[in-house]
Amino acid sequence: MKDHIEMCINGNTYQVGGEDVFLPLSDYLRTKVHLPGTKEVCIEGDCGACTVLLGKAKNEEVFYQTIDSCICYVYQLNKCHVVTVEGLKNSKLNPVQEAMVINHGAQCGYCTPGFIVSLYSFFNTCPKSITKPDIQNTLVGNLCRCTGYETIIEAGLSVDSNSVKKIDEIYPSKKLSILELSRKESIEVNTGEHVFYEPLTLKEALKLKDENLDSKLLLGGTDMHVMCNKRDFNPNKIIYLSNLNELKNIEIKNNHLIMGAAVTLSEFEIYASQYYPGLKEFLELFASPQIKNIGTVVGNIANGSPIGDTLPFLFVMEADVTLESVKGKRTININTLYKGYRSLAMDLNEIITHVNIPLLSKDEILRLYKVSKRKHLDISSFSAAIKLRQKEGIIQSISIAFGGVGPTIQRITEVEKYLCGKRIGEDVFEEAVNLMDNIIQPISDVRGEKGYRLRLAKNIIKKFYFEIKEENKVFA
Ligand SMILES: Cc1cc2nc3c(=O)[nH]c(=O)nc-3n(C[C@H](O)[C@H](O)[C@H](O)COP(=O)(O)OP(=O)(O)OC[C@H]3O[C@@H](n4cnc5c(N)ncnc54)[C@H](O)[C@@H]3O)c2cc1C
Ligand code: FES
Ligand code: FES
Repeated sequence: MKDHIEMCINGNTYQVGGEDVFLPLSDYLRTKVHLPGTKEVCIEGDCGACTVLLGKAKNEEVFYQTIDSCICYVYQLNKCHVVTVEGLKNSKLNPVQEAMVINHGAQCGYCTPGFIVSLYSFFNTCPKSITKPDIQNTLVGNLCRCTGYETIIEAGLSVDSNSVKKIDEIYPSKKLSILELSRKESIEVNTGEHVFYEPLTLKEALKLKDENLDSKLLLGGTDMHVMCNKRDFNPNKIIYLSNLNELKNIEIKNNHLIMGAAVTLSEFEIYASQYYPGLKEFLELFASPQIKNIGTVVGNIANGSPIGDTLPFLFVMEADVTLESVKGKRTININTLYKGYRSLAMDLNEIITHVNIPLLSKDEILRLYKVSKRKHLDISSFSAAIKLRQKEGIIQSISIAFGGVGPTIQRITEVEKYLCGKRIGEDVFEEAVNLMDNIIQPISDVRGEKGYRLRLAKNIIKKFYFEIKEENKVFA
């Protein structure tokens, strides 16, 4: 059992113990390692000024992705390599930095380190041809209040990707000796005020949870650390699960996609998009690369927000959630997981270990919708998933789930029942829309007024009909 974590920052090894382990990485970098290039602005994952590269060893290689260091805490970084904006420059500016200077990509400069790291990360993966949308998508998680973005995008487009020294050349994996060592010991950092546990096995995690019912489970921290930074949430005991090998699998088995709790949203997006049409486009509107590279689907499920974006999809797919405790394993359909607002039918000693999502059959159509004030990097005002199975134009089954219309995700069963068995046609869907008034009673809040949300719900049903009609998918 170790009482500290070991990590690399810009190629140098650090052992961190005590209260420093409980700091946001951005604070640690700025105040303890004296690397002030990483900036802090919003400290809730929204602006990207604190973007750094997080390297994790996989087999013999180290894979780097961007994260927001303000909502990643030091305790999440055992055996990781953090590269900051300072670490991307040798004696002279790198080509991305040069391009920003030449194209006037910075004014006040506060956001600039974050943009540099995000752009560098893009060029590090060696794209062959670069388009404006590529650069825009790369920069979804970086905000700038001064430039208006065009100069930054021009800077990105002007970089010759062949001239960018790859991260493996700057930090050869073999020299990062700390990452070569596999995790052989569990970690417990106990400061009296805080306790952090990083178990080595799932069995150990279940035992720890059983013995510490008041502990908080942690995966990516993209929900929990916003609460810590902005709402004075201060969990005394944390059990970190993201490094458990038993929770890292994502695979197809028996016509189901099975995914461990530690699979990140980015990994899910890449893998699952092959099986569920429309999922990729939908997940492109989920947060930002920085958030998806560390946040998880299981975190989204466990957080239980009525506007959790993966939930309507999981509801209509009738996904099963596996819960484990020292007493054993049970499986619960996600449609029965929520008892009320952010309240899950889980025991205090249980951990969500896996999600099991049926694949679509050939005669099923899936559509996913997200409505938010801003297109990218915004929380949904309303979300929906609709899955329909038809035969010769007759609806065999339909599942409709809405987010943002009540305390939990809501299945619209009355409308599902009404539509089932009917011939697909505008009149039938129009009637389904009319039923909606009595079925959903959304609340008004900062993201949308009650009447607006009701209108959205009705329009989505119509939109679904016109989309499938347009694609000629369902008419005999
Ligand atoms: C800037 C920003 C943008 C965002 N945009 C979106 C968005 O577009 N759509 C959206 O839906 N969400 C969004 N989120 C919210 C968040 O990123 C997601 O909910 C994410 O899926 C959470 O995953 P995580 O692994 O980071 O969870 P964590 O923060 O690690 O955990 C979340 C909760 O789950 C509990 N938990 C963790 N693991 C387990 C487990 N194995 N078993 C039981 N309980 C567990 C934790 O105790 C905690 O209460 C955004 C967040 C930020 C900061
Ligand atoms: S400071 Fe804004 S995302 Fe971290
Ligand atoms: S240059 Fe000022 S915030 Fe981007």
